[in-house]
Amino acid sequence: MAAWKGLADRNTGQRTVTEVRNMISVKDGTCVPVGEQDIYDIRFPQSQSDMAQDEAWCEVHLDGDWRRFRFHDYNEIYQIPGLYETLFYRTLRCNSPAKVVGLLSELLAEYRQSTDSIRAFDVGAGNGMVGEALQSVGIRDILGLDIIAEAKDAAIRDRPWVYNNYQVADLTALPERVEESIRKSESNLLMTVAALGFGDIPDPAFLKALDLVETPAWVAFNVKEQFLDNEEADGFAGLINKLTREKIIRIEATRRYRHRISYLGEPLYYVAVVASKLNDVPGEWLSDVPDTTAR
Ligand SMILES: C[S@@+](CC[C@H](N)C(=O)[O-])C[C@H]1O[C@@H](n2cnc3c(N)ncnc32)[C@H](O)[C@@H]1O
Repeated sequence: MAAWKGLADRNTGQRTVTEVRNMISVKDGTCVPVGEQDIYDIRFPQSQSDMAQDEAWCEVHLDGDWRRFRFHDYNEIYQIPGLYETLFYRTLRCNSPAKVVGLLSELLAEYRQSTDSIRAFDVGAGNGMVGEALQSVGIRDILGLDIIAEAKDAAIRDRPWVYNNYQVADLTALPERVEESIRKSESNLLMTVAALGFGDIPDPAFLKALDLVETPAWVAFNVKEQFLDNEEADGFAGLINKLTREKIIRIEATRRYRHRISYLGEPLYYVAVVASKLNDVPGEWLSDVPDTTAR
């Protein structure tokens, strides 16, 4: 039988996750489930120190058994009401929707742009945490998109008030009908939170999303800080540099912050970025952008 522990606690040694969970005061979480029935016991393996962030897993106590979930098994996680929130937001203290939306909100205030004028396109929308954060600052016109149907189902189940419209589609192979419907929404804000890198939204899909919003528009996203380090032509940093150099976007503000903690209790730092889309994405870029997605 493997030994298990909750989040690493340097002062007190091992604790069960239930004990740790009960110690966590949720300060910045606007989106944490309140019902005890939506909170699960979660345990983590003793050590996965050589494991990449997207390979990490945990076990959740469900119906008398421990069931294993990889952190990136979103389709399975979303099917269990409150599990995504309990794992990432309550236990691992993710606060990215609030951070990215907070930075955007500051910029809107600085530019004296009313939130009523914003029509958001939330890509990699998941079960609606970002949509809910957008609502909390007064942005009410929100189109969601995710590549898996379980995300849409969960968003409708858990936050039915959030999205005006929610599409399930692959941005790299968009059916014409879906593309039309997205363009019709005339979005002037592209949001993508906790969905870039780690094999989630690839560069061509990000570019397509950028193409689908109006010009001008706001662009707000976050990414692990190491993914912006790479100055070379390839990788996500290369794409952002190229977009900036060619004046397709202009970076307005960046903020480094703690995205969440790892299951070992180590901080994971991300950068929130808010940019303006200044010009259309050149058509030829959309057809031949290599997938150099950050990993
Ligand atoms: C970590 S979740 C983030 C969900 C939400 N944005 C949040 O912050 O809570 C990543 C989401 O990106 C979605 N995703 C991954 N690859 C995608 C792609 N190529 N196109 C659209 N969504 C994608 C996943 O299905 C998942 O719902």
